[in-house]
Amino acid sequence: METMKRTTNCGALRRADEGKTVILNGWVHRKRDHGGISFINLRDRYGITQVVVDSDAPAELAALIAELRNEFCIALEGTVRSRPDSMVNPEMATGEIEVVAKKLVILNRSEVLPFQIDEESEVKEELRLTYRYLDLRSAGMQRRIKLRNEVSFAVREWMIGQGFYEIETPTFIKSTPEGARDYLVPSRLYPGKFYALPQSPQLYKQILMVAGFDKYFQIARCYRDEDARGDRQPEFTQIDIEMSFVNRDDILSMTEGLMGHIFKKTLGQELPPRFKRLSYEEAMERYGSDKPDLRFDMPMQDFGPYVAEGSFQAFKDALAAGEADKAAAAARGISLAGGGVKVLVVPGKADYSRKQIEELEAQAKIYRAKGLAWMKVAGTETESILEGGIAKFFGDRAQKITAGLGAKPGDLLLLVADSQRKIANVALGSVRSKLGRDLGLNGPGPDGVPRFEFAWIVDFPLFEFNDQENRWEAAHHMFSWPQDKYHATLEQDPGSVKGDLYDLVLNGYELASGSIRIHDSELQKRIFKIVGLDPLEAEQKFGFLTEAFKYGAPPHGGIAPGLDRLVMLMAGETSIKEVIAFPKNSFAVSPMDDCPGEVDQKQLDELHLAVVLPPRTE
Ligand code: AMO
Repeated sequence: METMKRTTNCGALRRADEGKTVILNGWVHRKRDHGGISFINLRDRYGITQVVVDSDAPAELAALIAELRNEFCIALEGTVRSRPDSMVNPEMATGEIEVVAKKLVILNRSEVLPFQIDEESEVKEELRLTYRYLDLRSAGMQRRIKLRNEVSFAVREWMIGQGFYEIETPTFIKSTPEGARDYLVPSRLYPGKFYALPQSPQLYKQILMVAGFDKYFQIARCYRDEDARGDRQPEFTQIDIEMSFVNRDDILSMTEGLMGHIFKKTLGQELPPRFKRLSYEEAMERYGSDKPDLRFDMPMQDFGPYVAEGSFQAFKDALAAGEADKAAAAARGISLAGGGVKVLVVPGKADYSRKQIEELEAQAKIYRAKGLAWMKVAGTETESILEGGIAKFFGDRAQKITAGLGAKPGDLLLLVADSQRKIANVALGSVRSKLGRDLGLNGPGPDGVPRFEFAWIVDFPLFEFNDQENRWEAAHHMFSWPQDKYHATLEQDPGSVKGDLYDLVLNGYELASGSIRIHDSELQKRIFKIVGLDPLEAEQKFGFLTEAFKYGAPPHGGIAPGLDRLVMLMAGETSIKEVIAFPKNSFAVSPMDDCPGEVDQKQLDELHLAVVLPPRTE
């Protein structure tokens, strides 16, 4: 086919190109007619160039122009001319010039569009995903996919510069231990057997350390059959990293270097060389979350010390019940934190209406709070008064309480009590997050530049107690190193064991997780035993790992930042679908290609599979 091949792109021409004859290829972004003159905004990946068709254009050209509609793909030859000063468009990189069309070829026509390109916010997600190729033409999607590409490049540039090897690991594996459901691939050659798609390359990267590779990374696809959320997809991408002969701080500073490089290279933003560090306990006590948004502080405080002095029975009961549960659990060898009464001082919000407080209470109840108590601070700084809500139970202690909490007249106090301290923390923490959003505390800085508040959360508990199954389970995964001081007593009090685990959080999202790993078969077996993994099952599932550890496994550790979440946050988005070219919708479906789909009986037969549909519920 004879095409007019482009000599330049739609984002390149400047005043210095005046007089040149050029050929552009691209899509009709907009067409306007003004008293016989037509203006076409021609678009490609690089930008938009204004094309002018003068009123004295030859009839043949005029006829083709008349036919043009949005998103026709065209080739166009013309001459570059400067725009008069009054017509210069400073918003466009090519805004100083226009191209006077001489010749046009329609390369391909477009059907009537299901939605206008660049009006993404008003288009329903389902429609955007059905016509993803059109949605991807929008300036926003083009910008975000470009950013993703730049981030991936910066990752490789930095990691390889630091001496890491990028090594691919299999996507057909036995099964990974991350805790979500696996996606399974039936084996044709071995009836009844299945491959699993990796939830992460966890075990392979550890084995690469046994194999002596020392510094590994991979931009790795991971697959988890779990419910979709804004920051979760069934298939996603990790910057997977593992290193040998390192301690926790080596991994943290390597990751800080990586993040610093990515932000500098792609956004031109300088990050602090070291990120804040909070222990898990501190994060839970202050912010009620292990992924706090630190773009604002507003920490929760302990109201416990004021409870005994006050006369509010509900708070006293919560603490007493917590103490009783704690004692009962201790008798079974399980450590519990007991009850808690937590308070949030909301500066200057004593004017909050009852309705606004009820909305906050509804938020707390989502996280199992029984209610949200409140009081307002009035009076003066030296003689404060507590008013409203539960104030009558604490009125005579007003000055002591407000001074202790650092609360000022005009502030609002919000409180949650529970016999389980974690519930009080998490519920009030979610109120803190909602206030951060409602009050715009998490917005950009005064200069309009988005703020990126990184923090490390360290010293996570190694085990969590699963009430329903009445057993301990790994808080991260079973391959994380218990901190040395707990080795002797692991089995006696698993709840108190802290692991060499760390999460990197950014603006309220968990960006990365990692740990120093166990490299000793015997210690690994003890962990399997504590989480109730039958030795036979452990051998069947992970025997290859414990076997590998017998051959001089080096001490090692690693981390895995989620690439989708990173780019999402850098792009100022709240859904990772905005930074993935072909994501699934919330029902794990791709409406564009109608995936997942049915397969032929022949394919099922070859795989020795029979489909048993669930009974229809009508
Ligand atoms: P983890 O399971 O915490 O750790 O995952 C690490 C990071 O991957 C991202 N992530 C996801 N992103 C999008 N959709 C999902 N469904 C999803 N699940 C996780 C998050 C998360 O912080 N093997 C360990 C890492 C290690 O120990 O080195 C692991 O996979 O950003």
